[in-house]
Amino acid sequence: MLRSRIGLCLALACLAALPGASLAEDQSSRAAALGVIGHNGMVVAQEALAARVGVDILQRGGNAVDAAVAVGFAMAVTYPRAGNIAGGGFMLVHRASGEDVAIDYRETAPQAVSDQTFLDSQGHADPQKSRDSALAIGVPGTVAGLALAEEKYGSGHFSLAELIAPAIALARDGIPVTDDTADALPNDQPRLTRWPSSAKIFLRPDGSPLGPGDRLVQADLAASLEAVATGGPRAFYEGATAYKIAAAVQAAGGVMTVADLKDYRAVERMPVRGTYRGYDIVSMPPPSSGGVELVEMLNILEGYDLGHLERSQSLHLMIEAMKRAYADRALFLGDPDTVDVPVARLISKEYAAQWRASIDPERATPASQIRAGGIVQPEGRNTTHFSVVDRFGNAVANTYTLNFSFGVGLVAAGTGILLNNELDDFAVKPDAPNAYGLLGYAANEPGPGKRPLSSMTPTIVLKGGQPFLVTGSPGGSRIITAVLQVVSNVIDRRMDIGSAVAAPRLHNQWMPDRVVVEQTLDPELVAALEARGDNVVVSRPFTSANSIMVTPEGIVGAADPRTRGALAAGY
Ligand code: DON
Repeated sequence: MLRSRIGLCLALACLAALPGASLAEDQSSRAAALGVIGHNGMVVAQEALAARVGVDILQRGGNAVDAAVAVGFAMAVTYPRAGNIAGGGFMLVHRASGEDVAIDYRETAPQAVSDQTFLDSQGHADPQKSRDSALAIGVPGTVAGLALAEEKYGSGHFSLAELIAPAIALARDGIPVTDDTADALPNDQPRLTRWPSSAKIFLRPDGSPLGPGDRLVQADLAASLEAVATGGPRAFYEGATAYKIAAAVQAAGGVMTVADLKDYRAVERMPVRGTYRGYDIVSMPPPSSGGVELVEMLNILEGYDLGHLERSQSLHLMIEAMKRAYADRALFLGDPDTVDVPVARLISKEYAAQWRASIDPERATPASQIRAGGIVQPEGRNTTHFSVVDRFGNAVANTYTLNFSFGVGLVAAGTGILLNNELDDFAVKPDAPNAYGLLGYAANEPGPGKRPLSSMTPTIVLKGGQPFLVTGSPGGSRIITAVLQVVSNVIDRRMDIGSAVAAPRLHNQWMPDRVVVEQTLDPELVAALEARGDNVVVSRPFTSANSIMVTPEGIVGAADPRTRGALAAGY
């Protein structure tokens, strides 16, 4: 068991208390940049019970994929605002053999969805339809994705049922309502109140949200998970659960059918690959925009000596790279099964050099001069990312989501399963922003069976072919830039992982033309950015990059201190 954390804490200026248990672990707090060391394995997740489930699987001989699958199912129970079995996401796996695999379990649009589905009678984008109605619900991908990961890349020492078992117990026995769930429920209560099937799980009989002192017991969810444990993923997509989900969606005014569920498939894709100052960047390809945009931004930034430039100068260059990459995102990216995404061009060094030539080192380029678009207000929602490294040389970066916190807020009656509102990630209409203020065009228009474009960016950075950094984040449009900054903090600024994760972040997404900065960013830097012509807006944090770095001293986990409850647990 690891007790060498004291030394590491000194090295990291880590202020947190040592754990009493034999595990090396630390829960996030706003007080300090954290780093927890393990020599055999590490799980960093947004919810502590689930992180411990994962590390237990590692200790029992499981590999990183086994642990990630167990964490994925557990968080559907313990972190219901984003952990899920009726949402979707992406899992990136680096295998000890050297192979990198991207598993796409993004939701798909039901067959009855068209480019008209989310418009009002005047033909305008109707956010109520794409965000708050059952029309927004995509065909869930998580169960298929986790099962595929386990079947192909698990160690073989565990059955799927064994990996689901901890989740079933947590759902059946209940868990205390604490941390981020306690913080979130008051905000999400109005959306959960709309459906009795949701209210009876997450609200008290008087309609107030569950809070500290209450237990979250999810008996129906336990039964739905049990069905997957005994019948495999097809039980979810074709069995009683599928019929209940389709019935619930249709009763709420949506269009998902049992056939849509039956047809759902998770798919493996070639990861996006790039290089940055001698490191290999491996990340998620379309239908996520994350990997392409991350590599594009890193390519632009590789032309500057970010590690040595004056800080406001390097932030200015980073913002200019963000603007350009997000303009490309809006125009070119979508579901690769239905549109040709020019990935190779976007991630080429030559293309980055062209963009670099358009950057004024002293002045912000107005977004309107990069491409035309609209002005919108982004909003924070919820997603969750966890990172796992095992002792065999495997690593997993997994980001999954219901889109908004608690998805659309509807629990399919009799299943305990919360449904997503992922279809708002389509470009409902050109120049009509989604909930994150993102614009998009034909490449990402809604259509039957299509996967909406995502920003989720599970990423593994390799050094000499071995896992070096495992990261990713929630935060809607801000995910990609959060990952960019973690990578740059580690590689350019040579920060330890705790500090790299905790450092203040900023974000620009081309449109709206503004730089969103966290409150903790030095006001002098804000003033310097404004002097260069940036419109700076201070905002609360939306991202949470639960990350792992492999160092000569061991495997170091950093739970993001921005929200309560995250845990880095190693052994
Ligand atoms: O896939 C996407 O890009 C979004 N649906 C993610 C939503 C999200 O990160 C919300 N989290 N704070």
